Amino acid sequence: MTAASPVRLVVEDGLAWILVDNPPVNATSQSVRAGIAAALEDAVADPAVGAVVLACEGSTFVAGADIREFGKPPVPPLLPDLLRAVEASPKPVVAALHGTALGGGFELAMACHARVAAPGAAVGLPEVKLGLIPGAGGTQRLPRLVGALAALDMITSGRTVKAPEALSLGIVDAVAKGDLRAEAAALARSLAGTPPRRTLDRPVAPVEPAVFDSAVAKVAARARGQVAPLRAADAVRLSFSAPADEGLARERAIFLDLVGSPQSAALRHLFFAEREAARVPLLEGAKGRPVARAGVVGGGTMGAGIAVCFADAGIPATVVETGDAAAAAARARVAALYERQVKSGRITPPQRDERLGRIAVTTSYADLADADLVVEAAFEDMAVKADVFSGLAAATQPDAVLATNTSALDVDAIAAASGRPAAVIGLHFFSPANVMRLVEVVRGAASSRDALATGVALARRLGKLPVVCGNADGFVGNRILAVWRQVAEFAVEDGALPHEVDAALEAFGLAMGPFAVSDLAGLDIGWARRKRLAPTRDPAHRYASAVADTLCERGRFGQKTGAGWYRYRDGRREVDPEVVALVEETSARQGIARRPVAADLIQRRVRAAMVNEGAKILAEGVVANPAAIDLVLVHGYGYPAWRGGPMFEADALGLSTVLDDMREMQAAFGQGWEPAPLLVSCAQAGGRFADLPPQGPLAG
Ligand code: 3HC
Repeated sequence: MTAASPVRLVVEDGLAWILVDNPPVNATSQSVRAGIAAALEDAVADPAVGAVVLACEGSTFVAGADIREFGKPPVPPLLPDLLRAVEASPKPVVAALHGTALGGGFELAMACHARVAAPGAAVGLPEVKLGLIPGAGGTQRLPRLVGALAALDMITSGRTVKAPEALSLGIVDAVAKGDLRAEAAALARSLAGTPPRRTLDRPVAPVEPAVFDSAVAKVAARARGQVAPLRAADAVRLSFSAPADEGLARERAIFLDLVGSPQSAALRHLFFAEREAARVPLLEGAKGRPVARAGVVGGGTMGAGIAVCFADAGIPATVVETGDAAAAAARARVAALYERQVKSGRITPPQRDERLGRIAVTTSYADLADADLVVEAAFEDMAVKADVFSGLAAATQPDAVLATNTSALDVDAIAAASGRPAAVIGLHFFSPANVMRLVEVVRGAASSRDALATGVALARRLGKLPVVCGNADGFVGNRILAVWRQVAEFAVEDGALPHEVDAALEAFGLAMGPFAVSDLAGLDIGWARRKRLAPTRDPAHRYASAVADTLCERGRFGQKTGAGWYRYRDGRREVDPEVVALVEETSARQGIARRPVAADLIQRRVRAAMVNEGAKILAEGVVANPAAIDLVLVHGYGYPAWRGGPMFEADALGLSTVLDDMREMQAAFGQGWEPAPLLVSCAQAGGRFADLPPQGPLAG
């Protein structure tokens, strides 16, 4: 070990301390691996040492292998070899876990001979979230600690397990009551001189193959095209069907195969994009306002969900409603959201009461006088919003940030109505607001940097993923949605049925097809927007929504009316012959000879339409980089994460492929479907969106 090594060895009173200090998350970079190997060797050789404690400095135990090393040539010692050496140590090694022991870090802990966890610690094998499986023995050691079924659950979901559950599952030997290191040291001392208990030497508790198979079938049903969970299941199966050495070797082979896979590259791209999203060059040095108290205008579905987000994050929130009846309904909505969380076991009744206590519902703007930030979630109508914002400007502190949750209206027009536009930003939450992580943070023409920085920091404090964007119609997500929905509706007019289009896109990996989503969200929203935009619609462009318009004229607004693109009986979605007839009539009226539209064609067209609109958004500087678009589509619209988002996928496919798809669509759909100039120029230059310099005002 050199002076610069991130690993220290300290020998004290018969114990060797191996201390890892590799900020920010103590990842097992090469220098850490080498440091642990050398420290262990010294500790084993030192006759004064009876046992070893492995612990970490900083905020966490080792949180994984170093993701930045993936794809580079591996430099020894490799993690699996290091873990074999730890496990083989003739002197007991105790891991002292705090923070998050994840991936390779948890694997390291399992290779130790005993584990003590701090009460707030958590462990997990999140590799599937990066398109991988554990590659350093996790699939072989965890089943030996918790059984194959519990291991299958943890490894294929990637979920983290908190200390108390880890204790009851048998993952840790103890949860520290006081000082973690002192208790780990006491355990190590008690083990000194005894033969180390090696995890790989333990048997896996017997499991019925049929029971395991049916658990794997459930994993397959949830995987939706993602490869890693199924490969992880194969590896876990080896833990009870093959000798440990073979299990380890085959696990490693699968891991190496997946490290080089497009799915893992896509998921790693999203991992770093998420962390990059909060670092907006424009906001460097901006001082966000700390939000001690918040306000919400409107206690409807959205407003109630947003109030819950504040209360969950410990921020008191005052919801303003228009009258006593509306206020009572808002209170009931908030209470119902919390009731659901109690029923599902996510929070306890005392937690519910504490959080409910943070939400006040009132009918007076005057109650927002001490709010640092207010989110408006009123009816989507410009006159209503203008009224709200002039009221807010009068009632709140002069430097309070005023945010609109509009999804479709012009943030600048709303800002103008407030009379202090610098304080106004958009905070576009997605429904259900207390569940969905994405928030589009919208910069109006006059928004101050401080107001925007406040929005970004607040979103992060709420546990959300903020994506900063400019004030374009539909911002990022709804603007792209509007375009690819047209592709789906053209497919229906040209020959496919709505459920066939949904099935094609679900097979692509979307969480839900567009027509099923539309039924869930309500067809009336889009109808109102189409009517609003009708006067400015270009008659030379093919119109996509004749079927949707007729459905709305017939009062079929989706699930809430029992019928929309589908019909609903006892909550079950069914293909409706009335819709089939309507689709056929609409095609006939437009002189379209219906022909089957292949699933593959629908998928390619939808992706190309997203990428093309994304290229326009990028060229206009609405976002600073293509990764922001990927995050919006993945986190707000169910684009499969394992594809990395449409812009990443387009780069990986080659932009000329997407350009060809756009040209095919232009030929099929006519005017309005021209390839975006940025797509054309990048494709012709053989370039990638990811290599473009940051674009527009957000790029600083
Ligand atoms: N490798 C490299 N860098 C990592 C990393 C890792 N495993 N985990 C986190 N980082 C980096 C982040 O990129 C970020 O860097 P930045 O400041 O330059 O943006 C920094 O550490 C802090 O990360 P977060 O912003 O995410 O900090 P949080 O405190 O919010 O979260 C965490 C900490 C829970 C550890 C979270 O970072 C996380 O989930 N990390 C990934 C854990 C993981 O997936 N581990 C498994 C890796 S694969 C593996 O181990 C393979 C093995 O089986 C062989």
